[in-house]
Amino acid sequence: MKLKNDRVLITGGTGKLGRALIASGLFSHVAPSRAELDITKPETIDLFFETHDIQAVIHCAALARPAICEREPEQAIFTNVIGTSHMVRGVIRYERQTGRTVRFVHISSDGVYPGTKGSYSETDETIPYNRYGWSKLGAESAVALLSNHCTVRTSFFDPLRISFDASPTDMFSSKVPIATLARELSLILEGEFTGTFNVGEERLSDFERYRRFKPTLRPCLRRDVQQEIPFTIYHDSSLNCEKWHHVRNLITGRESNATGEK
Ligand SMILES: NC(=O)c1ccc[n+]([C@@H]2O[C@H](COP(=O)([O-])OP(=O)(O)OC[C@H]3O[C@@H](n4cnc5c(N)ncnc54)[C@H](OP(=O)(O)O)[C@@H]3O)[C@@H](O)[C@H]2O)c1
Repeated sequence: MKLKNDRVLITGGTGKLGRALIASGLFSHVAPSRAELDITKPETIDLFFETHDIQAVIHCAALARPAICEREPEQAIFTNVIGTSHMVRGVIRYERQTGRTVRFVHISSDGVYPGTKGSYSETDETIPYNRYGWSKLGAESAVALLSNHCTVRTSFFDPLRISFDASPTDMFSSKVPIATLARELSLILEGEFTGTFNVGEERLSDFERYRRFKPTLRPCLRRDVQQEIPFTIYHDSSLNCEKWHHVRNLITGRESNATGEK
């Protein structure tokens, strides 16, 4: 299904998710390099919008490495909080100039929740457990200023690139395969609803989830992973995705009616 929006700006197109969105073929996109559009340089954002006909944005660009965010919080602020704010300001300026409303889909993280009890709903408290999460939460505040925005709280993985040999049996999440997330994002982009949505799969331990795709995976414990890395990791960051499922059913039901199918 090609989107009715035929000019979708994908930021972070060279990253893991950006590449998957492009490879999905679901978006008639334009994906500038960082040299063309650097979210920390507002003049590059304005120049890009002045020279392109953009109807929607999927904002993937971020400092998405928690270890760097922990070590260099100024970089996390500069890219995730200030960079995303620059994008929002650029979109508002473009909307004023063109009289058009731009749909803005922001990729946030399940890491905005505390990562302890799990099954988080969008209305649960957001108290991130590391600096990466705080910087993503800061970005969300800027995005909420846009009239036509969706913030997607998620976590994803590439089933074809599970590089580690062991995974914890006592860490739980709702991580979604990256190709599945690309399809969900195409529906979100096409919709007319706004707000914050959790997008993920069923709650599983990381070991159970990854072993489906890598049968040789060995079990380990969270503490084995935590002692190797310099930032706090979750216990249970699983998501309650009922809100998205409800909206998704409305969208796909509407599509079925439009094509005469049941
Ligand atoms: N990976 C996960 O499991 C996960 C989970 C939840 C949420 N997310 C979010 O999903 C989004 C995509 O994550 P990812 O894993 O695909 O990240 P990634 O592979 O690290 O890619 C990050 C992308 O952002 C770009 N970027 C960084 N700084 C930029 C700047 N100043 N201006 C323009 N572009 C810039 C990078 O460009 P260069 O190639 O030039 O560096 C790259 O294309 C991020 O918002 C991340 O926070 C990720």
